[in-house]
Amino acid sequence: MKSLVIYDSYFGNTEKLAQAVGKALGTAKNVRVVRVVDVTPAELEGVDLLVVASPTRGFRPSEGTTKFLNSLPANALQGIKAAAFDTRIDPETLKNKVFRFIVQRGGYANKAIAKMLANKGAQVIHPLEGFYVDDSEGPVSSGEMERAAKWAAQIKNG
Ligand SMILES: Cc1cc2nc3c(=O)[nH]c(=O)nc-3n(C[C@H](O)[C@H](O)[C@H](O)COP(=O)(O)O)c2cc1C
Repeated sequence: MKSLVIYDSYFGNTEKLAQAVGKALGTAKNVRVVRVVDVTPAELEGVDLLVVASPTRGFRPSEGTTKFLNSLPANALQGIKAAAFDTRIDPETLKNKVFRFIVQRGGYANKAIAKMLANKGAQVIHPLEGFYVDDSEGPVSSGEMERAAKWAAQIKNG
């Protein structure tokens, strides 16, 4: 099975998690982990499983992620299984209750990514995931790297 993990990352947290997911999906021979700005259309050829990862920025995926997914031709992902995760701040760690409410109500990037993947013909695998960072710039919260590896093993069989 050939897998491709496409990620965006401003501070390196989503990148670390994307690498962990890639490692759990298989060997370097079968798995490529590529930053979204570096993806070429040829990279999608022969891919069985596509994972798209983005930091949540203003309740949405990063601009680069959205731009890339929107740029794909219609049905470009036909026949491809696809999964999505985002990174986010754990709302429980936000002291300001109003801010916490807004963040929770605003939603997260993974759903929007899944919608775009489906729009391009991919068969979206669930569960979608969100992994926590301690603060905007990180680090990745304790235990989340391990949880990401477990999630990857799960979607690999999905
Ligand atoms: C401008 C900006 C907007 C953000 N918006 C959200 C948000 O809506 N919800 C959330 O949980 N985290 C939000 N965050 C925190 C990011 O999710 C966090 O910076 C990201 O997960 C870190 O990943 P990265 O190192 O790969 O960029 C925001 C951070 C920034 C800087």
